[in-house]
Amino acid sequence: MIDWQIDSWRKLPIKQVPEYNDQNHITQVEKELSIRPPLVFAEEVRRLRKRMADVAEGKAFLLQGGDCAESFAEHNANNIKDSFKVLLQMAVVLTFGSALPVIKIGRLAGQYSKPRSSPLEVIDNVSLPSYRGDMVNDMAFNDQSREPDPERLLKVYDKSASTLNLLRAFASGGMADLTKLHEWNLEFVRGTKEAEKYKELADKITFSMEFMNACGMTPENTAQLRETEFYTSHEGLLLNYEEALTRKDTITEEKGWFSTSAHMLWIGDRTRNIDEAHVEYMRGIANPIGLKCGPSTDPDDLLRLIEKLNPLNQPGRLTLIARMGSSEVYSKLKPLISAVKKSGLIVGWCCDPMHGNTVKASSGFKTRKMNDIMTEVKGFFDVHKEMDTIPGGVHFEMTGQNVTECVGGVYEVTETNLADRYHTHCDPRLNATQSLELAFLLADLLSDNRNISRKLVSTAC
Ligand code: TRP
Ligand code: MN
Repeated sequence: MIDWQIDSWRKLPIKQVPEYNDQNHITQVEKELSIRPPLVFAEEVRRLRKRMADVAEGKAFLLQGGDCAESFAEHNANNIKDSFKVLLQMAVVLTFGSALPVIKIGRLAGQYSKPRSSPLEVIDNVSLPSYRGDMVNDMAFNDQSREPDPERLLKVYDKSASTLNLLRAFASGGMADLTKLHEWNLEFVRGTKEAEKYKELADKITFSMEFMNACGMTPENTAQLRETEFYTSHEGLLLNYEEALTRKDTITEEKGWFSTSAHMLWIGDRTRNIDEAHVEYMRGIANPIGLKCGPSTDPDDLLRLIEKLNPLNQPGRLTLIARMGSSEVYSKLKPLISAVKKSGLIVGWCCDPMHGNTVKASSGFKTRKMNDIMTEVKGFFDVHKEMDTIPGGVHFEMTGQNVTECVGGVYEVTETNLADRYHTHCDPRLNATQSLELAFLLADLLSDNRNISRKLVSTAC
C-alpha cells in the first residue's frame, strides 16, 4: 500500500470524533491497547473476505445485524444470547428460502460509538457535547457525563472481548446446532403468526435432518450441522482505538496490516470523504470493509472512493451498504449501480433499510415504520433485477429484546406503544418478531430472485 502508515490518518482532517482534554491520557490508553491481544485473528478475517467475495458474486447472501449502539448498561449474557438466537433464526429462514449459504455478521462486540448530526445538544438552554456512544461519553445530560473519557476505550475492549468470547462459544459450542432450531424461539415471540411460520419451517428442516441422520450424517460427525461461522463488525469511527488494535500479520505469508478489533469494519455515510482520515485508515487494512452510501452519494465520487479503497479490485474487499430511504431507493441507487457496473469494479451490494427511514413520531420518539423498511428492501431487489446485478445482503438494526421502537409489523406496534419499551441508546431497532417477519419477506424475494420455488409455509397463516 503506497504511502500508507498505520497512523497516516492523523495528518488529515477528521469528522465525528471527540476532543479529549487530556492528550497524555488518550496517548497512554492507546499504548495500553496496543499491547493487548488482538480480538480477532488474521486468518478469520481472510476467510470472511472469501465469503464476501461469494456475496458479491451471488453465491452467498449476507445477513448483518445487531444494535444501533451497544451500551455498557445492557452488556450481559442474556442480551447477547437473545440477539444471537434471532440472527440464527433469520439466517435459517434465509438459508432455506434462498438455498444459499448465509454469511452471518453481528453489529456486535465493538459497536459502541456513534456519529451525530450535531456536536452539541441543547436542552432548556443548556448546551453540552452530544452523546457519542459509550465508547466516548455517557448519555446522562450533565457536564461530567458528557466529557469524553479515554478510559472508555479500555472498557470497550474488555466488553468486546467478553462478547466475542461468548459468541464464539455459542457458534461452535452447540447453540447453533441445527437440531436445536426450535429452541431459538424467544418466549415473547410465541403465539405470534411469525412464530407459527417459523415452527412450520423448523419442522421441515427437522424432517430433512432426520433423513440425513439416517443416511449417516449427524451433528456429531458433521461440523457443518453443529456449528456456524459468526463474524463481528462495527463502524470504524474512533481511529485511536482502531489504530491501537491494527496489527501486522506475522503468522502467514500475507504481510499486510489487519484491524483486529473486528472481522469487518465499515465507513459511515458522514465520514466517507475521500481526502479525510477515515478513508485513509481504511484503505490500508486488509479486512473486508463496508462503505455506507446515502442518497447524497455521487456516482463519480463513488467510483473514486472504490478505487481508493480497493485499488487491486479484489473481490470480497468492499461491500457497498446502501441506505437511501424507501422513497428514494430506486432513483438514487440505480445511477450508482449503473456506474459501478460500467466500471467493472467488483463490489458487493447490501441494503440497509433502517437509516434512510428514521422519522419522528408525534410523541417525539424517533421511530421507523415496518412498511418503509419493507418497501426499501423490495426496492433494492427490484433495482438489482432491472440492472441484472446481485442484491447481496441486508444490514439491520435489531435486538433479541422485546422492545417497541419500530412501528408496524404483524404484531402491531403503534405510535402510542412506543413509550412501552423504548430502550435504544440511539436508533430504533427491530424486535425479534419484526426481525423474523423481515426474514420471511426476504426469503420470498430471494427465492423469486433465484427462480426457485420455496414456499415456506403450506397454509396461509
Ligand atoms: N453450518 C451451516 C451454516 O452456518 C449450517 C448451520 C448450522 C446453520 N447452524 C446454523 C445455518 C444456524 C443457519 C443457522 O450456514
Ligand atoms: Mn443507527
